[in-house]
Amino acid sequence: MSKIAIIFGLGPRIGQPAATKFHNAGYKVATVARTPRTSSTDDFLHLTADLNDPSTVKAIFDKVESHWGKSPDVVIYNAGALIPTPTNPLSAKMDDFVKSFNVNTFTPYSAASIAYERNHAVTFLLTGNAFNTLVNPRFTTQGVGKSATAHWIQAAAIAEGLRPARFYYCDQRTPEGEPCYTGLKGDAHADLFLKLAEDPEQGEPIVVFRA
Ligand SMILES: NC(=O)c1ccc[n+]([C@@H]2O[C@H](COP(=O)([O-])OP(=O)(O)OC[C@H]3O[C@@H](n4cnc5c(N)ncnc54)[C@H](OP(=O)(O)O)[C@@H]3O)[C@@H](O)[C@H]2O)c1
Repeated sequence: MSKIAIIFGLGPRIGQPAATKFHNAGYKVATVARTPRTSSTDDFLHLTADLNDPSTVKAIFDKVESHWGKSPDVVIYNAGALIPTPTNPLSAKMDDFVKSFNVNTFTPYSAASIAYERNHAVTFLLTGNAFNTLVNPRFTTQGVGKSATAHWIQAAAIAEGLRPARFYYCDQRTPEGEPCYTGLKGDAHADLFLKLAEDPEQGEPIVVFRA
């Protein structure tokens, strides 16, 4: 039976190259975004949801399981929310901050939790950035979300009782090793995701890679 990957956050920059990479490697691929797609085939299933709401995750896993008869082997959480605070890091509207924290932290936590509950061998991969350690007042809300998520991913990675499941936070940097902000490389993310998904060992959970 084919392995299943699910990608939360299908967009042109990372989500789509990752979907193509896993499909070419023989996986069935489910994708999630707010925008509907009509291209579902035997190997692709696109689901619409707003990941602002962590409670949507269970229904998504239920749909994948009822469609293909098993829970995902690989979960890629790629959606991210950014509420900029250009002049004052304390200026974010609370509603916006809560929604962005949901997308960056609570919803991926829920996805990892449900994925593990249903498949103890799942690989969970999250598209991160340097904000797990870098503090930039303009991007405070995202930094809060990414750093919190890096924390629980590291906790899951060192919790030996969770093996063989594996958990990673993936942070692309520029070729010089700087935070990239722009210039994301989708193919490099896709290559890394597949390599980590196919490695049965839990490695260092914070993966900083240059591309
Ligand atoms: N390494 C770095 O320095 C760096 C730099 C920039 C970004 N990033 C990270 O890269 C990731 C993806 O970036 P990207 O957006 O450019 O990638 P992308 O793969 O082009 O698109 C991701 C997709 O996620 C979907 N999404 C976003 N919010 C959602 C929500 N609330 N509910 C459902 N789907 C949602 C959007 O589709 P819909 O609009 O259709 O929902 C979006 O097109 C983010 O996690 C971001 O933090 C890292």
